[in-house]
Amino acid sequence: MAKVKTTWFCQNCGAQHARWQGQCTTCKEWNTLVEEVVQKEKKPSWDAASGDTLSRKRTPQPQLITQIDVTETPRLDTTNAEFNRVLGGGLVPGSVTLLGGEPGIGKSTLLLQVCLNLPYKTLYVSGEESAQQIKMRADRIKQDATNCYILTETKTQNIFRQITEMQPEVLIIDSIQTLQTEIIESTAGSVSQIRECTSELIKFAKETNTPVLLIGHITKDGNIAGPKILEHMVDTVLQFEGDRNHTYRILRALKNRFGSTHEIGIYEMLGHGLREVINPSEILISQRGTSLSGTAIAATMEGMRPLMIEVQALVSTAVYGTPQRSATGYNLKRLNMILAVLEKRAGFKLGQKDVFLNITGGITVDDPAIDLAVVAAILSSNFDIELSSQHCFSAEVGLGGEIRPVSSMEQRVNEAAKLGFEKVFIAPAKQKFKEVGTDVQAFSKIEDLIKYLFS
Ligand code: TYD
Ligand code: MG
Repeated sequence: MAKVKTTWFCQNCGAQHARWQGQCTTCKEWNTLVEEVVQKEKKPSWDAASGDTLSRKRTPQPQLITQIDVTETPRLDTTNAEFNRVLGGGLVPGSVTLLGGEPGIGKSTLLLQVCLNLPYKTLYVSGEESAQQIKMRADRIKQDATNCYILTETKTQNIFRQITEMQPEVLIIDSIQTLQTEIIESTAGSVSQIRECTSELIKFAKETNTPVLLIGHITKDGNIAGPKILEHMVDTVLQFEGDRNHTYRILRALKNRFGSTHEIGIYEMLGHGLREVINPSEILISQRGTSLSGTAIAATMEGMRPLMIEVQALVSTAVYGTPQRSATGYNLKRLNMILAVLEKRAGFKLGQKDVFLNITGGITVDDPAIDLAVVAAILSSNFDIELSSQHCFSAEVGLGGEIRPVSSMEQRVNEAAKLGFEKVFIAPAKQKFKEVGTDVQAFSKIEDLIKYLFS
């Protein structure tokens, strides 16, 4: 099937090589050679399938920027509020969206669920599962979908043939790594296949104004598998994340040409599909009961949304020589830093203690505002003195033991007030808050806060 000519190009210096080799002989960089098509004998699949007959195909004309009408293309409502929010208000016609995430996290479930609820004619192409498997999953999720078509196929040529016949309004591909185009010989999932298939799909999306959703696998280190340029090619990159052993999942936009990347969507994986968590603080409320030592609540922000998070710490005497430090949902290096600050600035010798830290709900938090709650939880466990469940914390801790302000303070305090917290501990802030209905107490040094809480 040698129809096309491919060559290996170094992605670093652009040198051309006849075959793959580990090191580029020109620039001496390792692992930079990528196969590229230099001459296609056949037309790419989408061109071949569409021909000139397709009525929806448009040939773009230059337009004056002031005369471009943006109202002309309203977004498609996916009827999934969280999904719409992350996309920036719905699916943009002609956009290509890539959804990444670990295996088994629920990517197929999410898109199938979206697809079943779409009021548009949708084609769900799966290269991973059989039609029966998809039907079984659809039965778990719900409902009498009348617009959803399933195709199990991996050859892009065949997919485009079906598309020209049935003219779907939305196309979903599960997953891009399983697709294969005839014009390249390499196996499915290889760099050149992924790139070529994606560019055919992008061409299709742009020419027919059909939104395309792609599922992409991620590698062990959390990047979307395949060439990095895949992320540059598509319009939107979404990431579905969470702990597989917990039920909560977060949908995040890593890149969005049509909206902000600050929005997140929160879901809960249930036996019958994903439930949208419209009010994220309910995650905490369900667990908020009697207070325990070692537990503190942090007012954090996930994207643009305030989220109350429970931090649990366990400090116990080390049995073995080297004390253990473990953090789930929180950066271990940051935990070590906080322990060092506690030792140096507040005189707590935790060097002989095991310290375990856990963020409940299987959520991973990057927001530095959680630091103060981490400090409070650790010391609460260390002294075995419980903190009031009516108190929450929101500030960063610096290396000097100083308590530092964080962004969007007003939103955090408002959320705490809404949930009935009586007191929020924060850093001294320059601006005054409006009347919020909860007591706000500011400290500038952790020593002062510790004295206040534990004596
Ligand atoms: P799946 O969507 O197949 O993940 P991915 O496509 O990201 O690999 O994930 C399915 C997981 O979710 C699987 O372990 C079973 C679970 N699940 C539920 O808990 N409830 C459901 O209704 C469905 C469909 C799946
Ligand atoms: Mg899947």
